[in-house]
Amino acid sequence: MASPLIAPSILSADFARLGEEIAAVAHPGDTRADWVHVDVMDAHFVPNLTLGLPVVQSLLKSTDLPLDCHLMIEDPDRWAIGYAEAGAYNVTVHVEAAADPVKLAKNLRAAGAKAGLSIKPGTPLEPHLETLKHYDTLLVMSVEPGFGGQSFIADVLEKVRTARRLVDTGHLKLVVEIDGGINADTIEQAAEAGVDCFVAGSAVYGAEDPGRAVAALREQAARLRVS
Ligand code: DX5
Ligand code: ZN
Repeated sequence: MASPLIAPSILSADFARLGEEIAAVAHPGDTRADWVHVDVMDAHFVPNLTLGLPVVQSLLKSTDLPLDCHLMIEDPDRWAIGYAEAGAYNVTVHVEAAADPVKLAKNLRAAGAKAGLSIKPGTPLEPHLETLKHYDTLLVMSVEPGFGGQSFIADVLEKVRTARRLVDTGHLKLVVEIDGGINADTIEQAAEAGVDCFVAGSAVYGAEDPGRAVAALREQAARLRVS
């Protein structure tokens, strides 16, 4: 199995210094992030407001790391395409918000991005398995979306195990990604369940040295992943 991917979430970074905060996890070597996770919140789908397309466009100019845009917004059928057209590597929408997720995935891919589908902790996976055939990443939320620094909900690992099985047996072709409460205490159980990509906000940007935190999380996940 490939090396685990670490995606620091800039939700926990200093918003006045986003360029420098991303640069802190962009040096070549083991402290380099694989993707940078960008949480877009609209104060409607979730009760919080962060940033939108203009900021993402500026970030794309300031880094060569792939941007993993997590859209916690209403009406992604209308708004997600702009992130793909701007050059985001992966654009993730919520299944709870998308009206036509299959068409949306096709549009995202046609615009040159990977298409991601996210499910909230209380959303079951089974009804969406056909839809997931059109997606490149599955983002399993392990906290209620909206805020960083919340506690990990271990119950969602059952969905990770199911997705892992379906990928390993060739029924789905997806990067299995987890988001929320990932840190040194929780990453091992997520790795064991079969996660490929780990989003970590407070565990990276709350650390003294964000780059070292990335390296440490990746090493911990790699030790526990089933090979
Ligand atoms: C929560 C966001 C997460 C958040 C994770 O709605 O989607 O990406 O930044 O933060 P931590 O890692 O602190 O739980
Ligand atoms: Zn996120």
